[in-house]
Amino acid sequence: MKRIAVFTSGGDAPGMNACIRAVVRGAVYHGLEVFGIRRGYSGMINGDIFQMTSHSVSNIVQRGGTILKSARSKEFMTPEGRAKAAEQLQKFGIEGLVAIGGNGTFTGATLFYDEYGIPTVGAPGTIDNDLYGTDHTIGFDTAVNTALEAIDKIRDTADSHDRIFFIEVMGRDSGYIAIQSGIAGGAEMVMVPEVLTPISEVVETLKAGWSRQKSSSIVVIAEGEEAGIATEIAEKIRAQVEPKVDMRVTTLGHIQRGGIPTAYDRILASRLGLGALEGLMNGEKNVMAGVVNNELVYTPFRDTIRLPKPISEDLLRMVKILSV
Ligand code: F6P
Repeated sequence: MKRIAVFTSGGDAPGMNACIRAVVRGAVYHGLEVFGIRRGYSGMINGDIFQMTSHSVSNIVQRGGTILKSARSKEFMTPEGRAKAAEQLQKFGIEGLVAIGGNGTFTGATLFYDEYGIPTVGAPGTIDNDLYGTDHTIGFDTAVNTALEAIDKIRDTADSHDRIFFIEVMGRDSGYIAIQSGIAGGAEMVMVPEVLTPISEVVETLKAGWSRQKSSSIVVIAEGEEAGIATEIAEKIRAQVEPKVDMRVTTLGHIQRGGIPTAYDRILASRLGLGALEGLMNGEKNVMAGVVNNELVYTPFRDTIRLPKPISEDLLRMVKILSV
């Protein structure tokens, strides 16, 4: 293999730049030509492809976002879109790909290999931490710390005004950001899609806290229909808590996707970027590089998407105990 390309796809995540840097510098080190593709599969279809050098990735290890930009391409999910993408890669003589992204990215890469035989090795780039085959995804640690900083700030004002706050965090269908930021932020309750909490239990916990002179409470809720929509949960609880307590809802939103990556994310991203590149050079395909128990491992794309990554019951139990 002489020529490879790297791209970022799906929702961006802090640490993606450190990962791109590792792929590019690793390729240069190993004597490969390396190309960047802008805006993920959309750029592949449109031929937005350019050669990268060691210098192209100077001074980016500390930057959030992705210098290659990112997109979710509907066109690549069609056979016509993939045909255009394959034509462009052929034009540039690209023989292998490193894809930094999440499950949508890996689904696309699998279809692409089946049809055109172009191998892809993935690096898990998503704040959601929802991929089997790695303990943590790139960007997750930074997102948790961003959410935590917000929770700490909200606790100050919650306490001053004797209020209950419902804080909605991101994660798509996964409760990882919620559970980690909730524990670190001392939340009274954490609601995750993996283990559904009845409203009655939330009401009981909040009432119990109130009866023990708790003047404020924080409930962290993972976004989406499963755990519940924070505004709807707050309304249901408002109707059931007597005497009436002042409640507010805060949705943290996209601040969780930005910002300077933590040291942990930069190191993980560097390791996974180089791991993905070297895997590709060694003939791996349709697999994601991950770190499990501090070991670099490769997991088939279909397993990273299909297999569950459950939240530890211990952590959920701990939230209950520690909010006593
Ligand atoms: O997958 C990352 C993520 O931030 C999810 O947590 C969230 O549900 C989704 O992307 C938001 O997507 P968009 O940026 O397209 O609104």
